[in-house]
Amino acid sequence: QAFFKPILQTAPPSPTKRHTKISVIGAGNVGMAIAQTILTQDLADELVLVDAKPDELRGEMLDLQHAAAFLPRTKIIASVDYSVTIGSDLCIVTAGALQISGESMLNLLQRNVALFSSIIPPLAKYSPDSILMIVSNPVDVLTYVAWKLSGFPSNRVIGSGTNLDSSRFRFLIADHLDVNAQDVHAYIVGVHGDSSVALWSSISVGGVPVLSFLEKQQIAYEKQTLENIHKEVIGSAYEVISLKGYTSWAIGYSAANLARTIVRDQRRIHPISVLAKGFYGIDGGDVFLSLPAQLGRGGVLGVTNVHLTDEEAQRLRDSAKTILEVQSQLGI
Ligand code: 2OP
Repeated sequence: QAFFKPILQTAPPSPTKRHTKISVIGAGNVGMAIAQTILTQDLADELVLVDAKPDELRGEMLDLQHAAAFLPRTKIIASVDYSVTIGSDLCIVTAGALQISGESMLNLLQRNVALFSSIIPPLAKYSPDSILMIVSNPVDVLTYVAWKLSGFPSNRVIGSGTNLDSSRFRFLIADHLDVNAQDVHAYIVGVHGDSSVALWSSISVGGVPVLSFLEKQQIAYEKQTLENIHKEVIGSAYEVISLKGYTSWAIGYSAANLARTIVRDQRRIHPISVLAKGFYGIDGGDVFLSLPAQLGRGGVLGVTNVHLTDEEAQRLRDSAKTILEVQSQLGI
């Protein structure tokens, strides 16, 4: 207890407003990019970092705490022990094994499943009412794994999914058209990364639907441009990783963007990984894929009924089938 009292008490303590607590699991490049974005955007009263490496973790915690004079007031704590996450509103999981060169995707996945068995049950135990957001890759399968291990209802388990792919798509379209990316609406759905599906008919700029405009004008080559832009989106992470070794800033903003919608109950629609069974003819098992979903304090409120062409719906169903085959080999 401090015995220096810098504020002389003249009024009873102010009523406590709702306290928001966000925990970030994994203090690597991605976890720290998410943590710092959450801090600068004033999204939490309390920010918790958990990592298996105590020294790096304490270093990251201190480094953030030392910025207190420049940031909104947020209590920042860190521990290797999951008990610090108690009572979190939102738990964001970024921890994951990195692919060793030559390692198969399935082997990597099996190592991550083992890792998640030590992460998800304690999170679920200490914050039984929280929303779980999975960022670790491969995000769609690991979101399914987290859902299984948590025992949570599916509306409280999401994957960051194609919210990032959609941002890359909007950036590239905006850059091509020389407009602000926030005025570009465009959704990429499905599996995050290589086999994502661009919803062409969803693209609009300032309310002008781009595809029907191009079709009316018969500007076929622009459709090709859009397809090239989608290819560039798929290559984005590879390009950044080959240049700087990892991606961090964009995924940091993407996850913080989802965190804002959740903790502030904004009810915005984001393309994120959700339990997709029953939507767009996806059946055959429990599979998480990105679909445009409405988010709020309670998690996933619903999935929007977007128009998919037959080809788009078929590609989603094919992705679901591939994921189900992988999941059947995981033994959970
Ligand atoms: C990204 O897309 C690698 O999933 C990571 O930036």
